[in-house]
Amino acid sequence: MARATIQHFRDKKQNGQKLTLVTAYDYTFGRIVDEAGLDGVLVGDSLAMVVQGLDNTLPITMDEMLYHTRLVSRAVEKSMVIGDMPFMSYQVSVEDAVRNAARFVKEAGAQAVKIEGGSEVVPQVAAIVRAEIPVMAHIGLTPQAIYRMGGYKVQGKTEQAGKLLMEDAKRLEDAGAFSIVLEAMPGGLAKQITASLSIATIGIGAGIDCDGQILVLHDVLGLFERFIPKFVKRYANLKGETLNALKQYKDEVEKGIFPSSKESFQ
Ligand code: KIV
Repeated sequence: MARATIQHFRDKKQNGQKLTLVTAYDYTFGRIVDEAGLDGVLVGDSLAMVVQGLDNTLPITMDEMLYHTRLVSRAVEKSMVIGDMPFMSYQVSVEDAVRNAARFVKEAGAQAVKIEGGSEVVPQVAAIVRAEIPVMAHIGLTPQAIYRMGGYKVQGKTEQAGKLLMEDAKRLEDAGAFSIVLEAMPGGLAKQITASLSIATIGIGAGIDCDGQILVLHDVLGLFERFIPKFVKRYANLKGETLNALKQYKDEVEKGIFPSSKESFQ
């Protein structure tokens, strides 16, 4: 299979085939995600929380995002690599946004960038697309706006809030975004947005009717325990398996079982 492109995203939507995405932050997991055949791998700013151990995504820097995107790009051959634009890398000016988006492509090997926000980031999205860089938009619960939203809360619950999200989605599509993440919103609203757009919607906590789904890798694998949102499904318990492996290793070293002659040079 050739690398997933924005045309691949469009075709899958048109053919009613679901898109599958997950985050990754390093070479080892980048390779596994690629081998699993997912359409996209997002180097999400969620790495601030699940890799760096920070309380939210706001402190992570462009240089840190570029570093992790490079590690993932080195591994991934088939999935689309999407670099997540961190807080304050695009909000201040359109020029900042284009320069920083270009860094993901030129310095880190990404094929697209993701930007959080609604109508307020339309000029940035349009300018980045004009610079030939595909943009994935992101509306609903946008974690870079937690202080305005008052925490990690489901968005679009009232008719008026839902209408605003519908309008944002349309404006982002018109600005040239090739797909849009819908995070933490009622499934009915995500269904309406999905039906009204020609670009693919990628849901996370937005129900079954989106064109695709994305989850944070550490949540899928059961590696992150600090908090588990309602929309997460754990497909493995790697925390448990890792803990057991390390306890067994410790035990065998302490008892003189490892290394045996099999793991030793004669
Ligand atoms: O940073 C991230 O991982 C994200 C996804 C959860 C959509 O934005």
